This record gives sequence, structure tokens and C-alpha cells, in this order.
Amino acid sequence: EKGGHEYFMLKEIDEQPEALANTLRGHFEAGRIILDEQRISDQDLRDVDKVFVVACGSAYHSGLVAKYAIEHWCRLPVEVELASEFRYRDPVLDRDTLVVAVSQSGETADTLEAVRHAREQKARVLAVCNTNGAQIPRESDAVLYTHAGPEIGVASTKAFLAQIAANYLVGLALAQARGTKYPDEVAREFGELEAMPAAVQKVLSTVEQTRELGRRIADSRAVLFLGRHVGFPVALEGALKLKELAYMHAEGFAAGELKHGPIALIEEGLPVVVVMPSPKGRAVLHSKLVSNISEIQARGARTIVIAEEGDETVRPFADELIEVPAVPTLLQPLVSTVPLQVLAAEIARSRGYDVDKPRNLAKSVTVE
Ligand code: F6R
Repeated sequence: EKGGHEYFMLKEIDEQPEALANTLRGHFEAGRIILDEQRISDQDLRDVDKVFVVACGSAYHSGLVAKYAIEHWCRLPVEVELASEFRYRDPVLDRDTLVVAVSQSGETADTLEAVRHAREQKARVLAVCNTNGAQIPRESDAVLYTHAGPEIGVASTKAFLAQIAANYLVGLALAQARGTKYPDEVAREFGELEAMPAAVQKVLSTVEQTRELGRRIADSRAVLFLGRHVGFPVALEGALKLKELAYMHAEGFAAGELKHGPIALIEEGLPVVVVMPSPKGRAVLHSKLVSNISEIQARGARTIVIAEEGDETVRPFADELIEVPAVPTLLQPLVSTVPLQVLAAEIARSRGYDVDKPRNLAKSVTVE
């Protein structure tokens, strides 16, 4: 049942191209984005003036990624909230607020309570969920299923990539309804999403080098992760995977925050994973990160750089270089997360831990 893999998690990492294709399938017909069970009308979507994404853990990181895309495509304010915080606050919502509740299991207690909290205030709630008929979709106004297939490994992998893709479908549906994107632009964005399973497949064909690196750094005391823009939530996700699986101290930071504190942590030999943006995207993002890497390298960090293939500027600053295929900026998390999953899994294996069942963790957190 593990399809020749030692762990379900490794199988699920390999299934990511297929999971992404399944998330996207059937959502673009006759030139339009179509969401699943659409109990939110087109008029309601047009009237949306604010979006909240509520979720926990990796699902929350998928929401952080989506914020960049939805703000850019739809010109709508997007707040991404930990469900456990949202539910006990007094967030400002009304019937023109769209709340997107993201949950693989559809049973996470805090996310469910966040949904109830939002509905009491008349917000429209759309669930992004991987489990048919789970409680969160049942209590939401609409649901978009990710169709990533069952995820057995406790650490989320294929469901996380599928959540990003599904959140992007929500963003494109909003852009379409609001007219902030022309139909041909929506079609082009969807086409770019459809190219992602092949890009992820390409990453998977090169992970042996990442595994080998994982074995070499498995004895480190801590690992830091840095990113900017959509690379920031990827850094958070990379750190979460490492904490969960390898029981190692790991922190993700926005690279721009370095001088505001984290740089004090840099010491000789500390592995720091840097998620680079494309050199062909926003030049300023790329050059800022190059200078961040040079600063940490100068202070003795061992730099592990995830960069677009052919990015020569970054080479001199990379003690270890992991290349990923060139894809549009907003889609980079779908490729750059994969080596971080592989790295965490390999470090955990080297340390002798069960990758599918990390200590103290449950697949579905149905109690607070
Ligand atoms: C991380 C992980 C957890 C879940 C979180 C939310 O690898 O698996 O952080 O992402 O518990 O779970 P769902 O998506 O089921 O609500």
C-alpha cells in the first residue's frame, strides 16, 4: 500500500504532481473558472469586499501563500488568521466578507469553531477541504474539494500543495466575478497552474542530492529558514516540517526581518535555508535576498539555497545549491516547498525517527 516506499509520507511527496492535477481538474470549462458545490452565488462573489483565510498549521501556510495571489489578482484585502486566534477574537465581518476555511481533514476543532464564529456574523464561508463530507464543509456555505487523495503521513505534503492550488482557484473565481482580470488573463493563469504538475515532477526527479544533503546536516542543533514574498510562507512550512519530523529547532523568518533580531542567531556552521525568488521576477526581491545571503554567509552560516535553475548570481553565496525549475513568481511555492519536505523527511530518517508518525502529533486535531 506504500507503493514500494518506506513511508507513506515519501509516497505522498511523490504523488504531488497527480494530486495537483486532480485539484485542478474540472475547474475550467468554457473559458470560466468553476468552483464545486457553489452555494455562494456569482452576485455574492462580486459583492465580496474582504477575505479572511482561517486555518491551522500547514493549511495556514497555504493561506499565507494565497494572500499574495488574491490581493494581486482581485485587489481585495486578505487577512490570514490562525483559526485558534480568530475564533477568540472579535474580527470585523459582515455578509460581504468571504471566509475561506482551509483544512485537509475538515475536522480540525479550531477551524470548525472559526467557521461557526464567522457564520454567526453572517459572513459567507467557503471550505477548502480534502475529505469528503467532513464537518467543516458540512457547516460551510460552499466547498472546494482538493481531491489530493487520502494523506496518511501525519505531516502534510500533497494536501498542502493542493491547498495552495485550490486557494488560487478561489482567487481566480473572485477575480473573474469582480472583473479585476479579463477572461483571457484568467485563462492564462489557469494554464500556468495546469503546468505545475510537470514542474513538480521535475523537482522530484532531482531530489537525490537533497537527500544526501539531509544526511550531512542531520546532526545540526538548529536550522533557520528565510524567504521573502511567497518564499516567506515556504520558509515557515520548511521549518514546521523539520520541527514535526526531526524534532529539531527550526524557525522560518521573513528575510527582511533579519536585522530586526534573527541575525543574532547566526553562528559558525548554522545551516540556513534560503528560498530565493526568480531572478526574472521582481528584480528588487532577488537582489535583496542575495544581499541577505551574503550577510549571513559572512557571519559563518552554512547557506543552503533553493534557487531557480540557471540563477548564476546566487551561486557564490550558496554553500549548497538546490535548483528548482523556473515558474511564475506566485507559483514558486509549489516547486520550492518540495525540497524542504524531502530535506525534513531525510533528516528525520537519518536520526532514526518514524517519518509517518512523529511523536506527540495526531493527523487530525479534533480537540483543542
Ligand atoms: C503539518 C500538519 C498540521 C496540519 C494542521 C491542520 O504538517 O499536518 O500542521 O496542517 O493540523 O490540519 P487540517 O488541514 O486537517 O485542518
